[in-house]
Amino acid sequence: MTGARIIGWGTALPEKVVTNDDLAQTLDTSDAWIRERTGIAERRIGGSTAGLSVQAAQAAMSKANVSPDDIDLLVLSTTTADQLFPATASVVQAELGLTCGAFDLNAACSGFAYGLVTASAMVNAGFETILVIGADTLSRFVNWDDRGSAILFGDGAGAIVLQASDEQHILGSDLGSDGTAAGILFCEHGGKIEMEGREVFRRAVRAMVGSGHRAMDQAGVTPADIDWVVPHQANTRIIDSACSKLGFRPEQAIDVLHYTGNTSSASIPLALGAAADDGRIASGDLLLFVGFGAGMTWAATVVRWNP
Ligand code: ACO
Repeated sequence: MTGARIIGWGTALPEKVVTNDDLAQTLDTSDAWIRERTGIAERRIGGSTAGLSVQAAQAAMSKANVSPDDIDLLVLSTTTADQLFPATASVVQAELGLTCGAFDLNAACSGFAYGLVTASAMVNAGFETILVIGADTLSRFVNWDDRGSAILFGDGAGAIVLQASDEQHILGSDLGSDGTAAGILFCEHGGKIEMEGREVFRRAVRAMVGSGHRAMDQAGVTPADIDWVVPHQANTRIIDSACSKLGFRPEQAIDVLHYTGNTSSASIPLALGAAADDGRIASGDLLLFVGFGAGMTWAATVVRWNP
């Protein structure tokens, strides 16, 4: 075995829908402003990080047709662990009936792409079948009185099963972090999300463009080879701007932001799951996953879709 391939995917969203109009009842904002500035119409809120993770993982394992005994590693990316410890991965492991190693990874909204790159390296190290989950419940840390940030976030989870394969389907990757920008987006223990929105926006576009290019270079492909971009879902204007600078048409970006809001680690697998479920992504397509988040962190990876 010389490579890895995604063989299953699954998603989970809370049932409770909060619309922009709902937020406008308590905040000085409007549906029109939020849609125009972010692309978000509604978000799903509720549940725990572990609970949503379990739902998404069960769907991914079922799609991949693997049993708990087949999974030999669990990588769970989250910024919003349910407890300081144990790791949410341990709680999820028990719920799923897994007996393998399990750990949390925190790279904020870049977390799922970080997790996928980590899992791919672990396949190279000898692991056979790895469950990768991205899950966050940021609504628990939103300052609902801050109109600059409260409008953005939602809860959710997405998962994939990565398995060793004869051919390599994870073709190139880039991981990065600039800790000097930690102060523009953070949440203290016991506190709420604090964000300099405009500065995050500016750096996000730059990070996505740089990381996307480096992952494509490593994969030996150009933007013309990429069929779909699966970006972190933070703001449609960030996605549009990064895609245009990378040389993609806007319709090449998978966008679930309008009904999920920014779900942090869950956003890339939620977008992947939506496009895989509705058949937009076809076998053989080349995907560029690209994310950015608090840290600032960024990550990109080029994946041949062949589940
Ligand atoms: N409704 C109405 N007006 C608002 C709202 C709102 N919800 N929020 C801000 N405004 C006002 C501001 O007060 C300001 O008013 P002023 O001109 O009178 O001072 C005006 O709108 C413009 O404010 P900006 O902050 O410049 O608005 P901008 O167009 O930048 O949009 C936003 C703000 C949506 C937050 C944008 O900056 C953004 O999306 N930034 C990126 C945020 C992000 O991606 N965060 C997550 C990162 S991922 C992670 O790791 C969690």
